[in-house]
Amino acid sequence: MRAVHVSLGNRSYDIKIAPGLIDRLGRECARLKLGPRCAIITDTNVGKRYAKAVFNSLATAGFSPSLIIVQPGEPAKSLKTVQSCYDQLAVHRLERKSFIVALGGGVVGDLAGFLAATYLRGIAFVQVPTTLLAQVDSSVGGKVGVNLNAGKNLVGAFYQPRLVACDLGTLKTLPDREFRAGLAEVIKYGIIYDAKLFRQIEGDFPKLLKREPKMLAAVVARCCEIKAEVVGKDETEGGPRAILNFGHTIGHAIEAVSGYGRFLHGEAIAIGQVVVARISSSVVGLPERDLERIIRLFRRVGLPTTVRLRAGQRPKLFAAMRLDKKVKGGEINFVLAKKIGRVEYGHKVPAAVIEEALNHSTFASNYSATAPKRSEGGQPSTLN
Ligand SMILES: NC(=O)c1ccc[n+]([C@@H]2O[C@H](COP(=O)([O-])OP(=O)(O)OC[C@H]3O[C@@H](n4cnc5c(N)ncnc54)[C@H](O)[C@@H]3O)[C@@H](O)[C@H]2O)c1
Ligand SMILES: [Zn+2]
Repeated sequence: MRAVHVSLGNRSYDIKIAPGLIDRLGRECARLKLGPRCAIITDTNVGKRYAKAVFNSLATAGFSPSLIIVQPGEPAKSLKTVQSCYDQLAVHRLERKSFIVALGGGVVGDLAGFLAATYLRGIAFVQVPTTLLAQVDSSVGGKVGVNLNAGKNLVGAFYQPRLVACDLGTLKTLPDREFRAGLAEVIKYGIIYDAKLFRQIEGDFPKLLKREPKMLAAVVARCCEIKAEVVGKDETEGGPRAILNFGHTIGHAIEAVSGYGRFLHGEAIAIGQVVVARISSSVVGLPERDLERIIRLFRRVGLPTTVRLRAGQRPKLFAAMRLDKKVKGGEINFVLAKKIGRVEYGHKVPAAVIEEALNHSTFASNYSATAPKRSEGGQPSTLN
């Protein structure tokens, strides 16, 4: 088993990474000295596969778990679901010492974390992430929350879990498209922080796509280490944590303009990272060779690097970028790459440079024409 420590004073916790971890979850939770009662929150897709094993593991370790199941997908991250879950937590008589287990992808993690942050003014929670995106990104760092009609993630908190248990075995059942979308965040860590990780993925991406256990363990652990280091320096995103948003200002805008659900988040930020890498070439001198490697790697793992925009959508893309949280006083701040493995944040980029970079990435693309639609509510702005 691999373990990564997230160092945040009295809010510190471990991320544990191994196949089969769900079967040991009860024992892992027992070390945390939590009360006996707990609620497992999951969605129908994940629940039918893994809820029983999680339930049994907790029960065997002496806990009294109850199960709360929500619908899969982004619409579950709503105040309506929060209300229904609060009612169920009350029925199950969760107390101050009780805890919540978030079993699922980023949607379940964000929702269950928000419930934990607010129910009884805060009870403990444990993340059991089951998507690649959740294992390398959303389960670590303590951002929890739900969406409003006015935008994504507009209600939430910074609230750290007590443990993150990444069971690599759960990734076996993850749909291929979701797995590739998670790889966009993995590649991001290479670009922003770790040239060696980037090179490793360039060499070993076929193994990664086959989800080879050793390769997965190494990559998930390295990504968690990087996120833990960045969050350890800046828990609430006042400064350096901003580097995690590399490619996200444009990616979020693409998600909003193309209609939520058309692109998965990872797909949109793959395109966003390519655009911002081009911007990096003109503004901070990212070498041409690095730009090419970035584009090639996204393509090799089957992620889109261009998007088809209809006439009139370009201004909407700019408008959506200005709604992004990173915008301060109307100025869009970008994280730019000096080279693979090193970025700088807080760059103000002239609109003409953004336009020029978009010219390369927003012409016709087969991918956008064929990408299946996911059912999600239309939301005008994003905050992540
Ligand atoms: N808190 C953060 O720091 C942070 C960071 C990034 C993203 N997010 C949030 O994460 C959410 C997206 O998360 P996601 O990409 O994990 O999506 P998701 O939670 O919707 O999961 C994707 C799909 O895969 C299914 N699934 C999950 N695990 C599975 C498994 N092991 N086998 C089979 N099916 C499985 C789910 O039921 C769902 O249908 C967004 O709401 C986003 O805002 C949060
Ligand atoms: Zn992201």
